[in-house]
Amino acid sequence: MRRTMAAGNWKMNGTSASLAELQALAATHPQASADIVICPPAPLLFRASEIAQGSPVAIGAQDCHEMKNGAYTGDISAEMIADAGATHVILGHSERRAAHHESDSDVRAKARTAHAAGLTAIICLGETEAEREAANTLDIIAGQLAGSIPDSATGATTVIAYEPIWAIGTGKVPTLDQIIEVHDFMREKLTTRFGADADTFRLLYGGSVKPDNAATIFQAANVDGALVGGASLKASDFSPIINALEASSA
Ligand code: PGA
Repeated sequence: MRRTMAAGNWKMNGTSASLAELQALAATHPQASADIVICPPAPLLFRASEIAQGSPVAIGAQDCHEMKNGAYTGDISAEMIADAGATHVILGHSERRAAHHESDSDVRAKARTAHAAGLTAIICLGETEAEREAANTLDIIAGQLAGSIPDSATGATTVIAYEPIWAIGTGKVPTLDQIIEVHDFMREKLTTRFGADADTFRLLYGGSVKPDNAATIFQAANVDGALVGGASLKASDFSPIINALEASSA
């Protein structure tokens, strides 16, 4: 049985005042049967880790540099993230792939560096609306899976998030059948590549997950949780998603 995961991506939102939401979330879930991860902006990592300590909430960053350290002004290394008390890092989010021109091989290199620092990588992939309309979704996913996931990845170090780009922040969600198709396909591809270990990788769905659609999405056998943007900013929105996830695997 894979342990489910609810990961929240705050993106470039919030200030230290937002840590009250993290505190509320940790207080609402003193125990959890799912892994809960909050990924705040980098300046909040250290304080977030202190607040989450002793609770089931783990803290993650939203990106790291592929190099261990060096002359990379403005960038953040995996080691710094771990040093701040975080245990996870989101890599290859479509917003970074688009705005920062991150390629599959960049994401793969970042994942290796994150793993070396002891971080669990949450690697994102997903198709554009045009790619879906052209019936290219599975080809795109196969390419991103092959290119973004390092050969050394294991289910313990790597979580994969399927995030159709057209569903992110739009309120549009694929049908359950569309989600099942992609997640079953990802599991198949992982099995071809990683053999029996493929069953240990958690596969998250992301893109407009809300309290009112979470339970439906979690019905899919190969959906092991969610990567949540907007609805992770408030504990009162994220908490019911965690509850729906826990109920789905109870
Ligand atoms: P959303 O974002 O939940 O606001 O659609 C998801 C994501 O980008 O991870």
